[in-house]
Amino acid sequence: MSDETVHQVLRGVPLFAGLDDTAIGVLAGFAFQKTFQPGEVIVEEGHTGNGLYVILSGRVEVVKSEGTDRAQSLATFGPGEPFGELALLGEWKRTATVRAIDETTCLGMDRWVFLAHMERQPALAVKMVQFLAQRLVDTDARLVAR
Ligand code: CMP
Repeated sequence: MSDETVHQVLRGVPLFAGLDDTAIGVLAGFAFQKTFQPGEVIVEEGHTGNGLYVILSGRVEVVKSEGTDRAQSLATFGPGEPFGELALLGEWKRTATVRAIDETTCLGMDRWVFLAHMERQPALAVKMVQFLAQRLVDTDARLVAR
């Protein structure tokens, strides 16, 4: 995917809405692309996390306690949706396993790049708070629907 296409995809990601072209360009410049095969683990619950991913194409499933009798599918994400933000924010361990459903290409961003951007761009920090709040609302809705 060309730099121009990556730039365009990032512009369409709600988490990055409000960032100007220069800020998007800097983020895109530090991002790396990686393609995962169907079934491949992208982040693993309990492991140290170092980055955030944005899906460019494909779909992923978020699973908690995979491989145990308490395993639960928490969410499915597709193009434009970020994941892996929790461990990034607090230097915590990954809270769930994220596995590719289809062949999935992601844009990855290292923790320090993203945190440096949040410190310099209040708009990004506000979007991140809104994004986390929305995920909490979605999780609550799924719990009630069970
Ligand atoms: P992180 O903990 O870094 O790695 C696993 C990721 O799964 C996590 O960040 C979130 O992006 C995602 N995740 C964890 N719990 C939920 C949830 N309840 N709803 C949606 N996504 C989740």
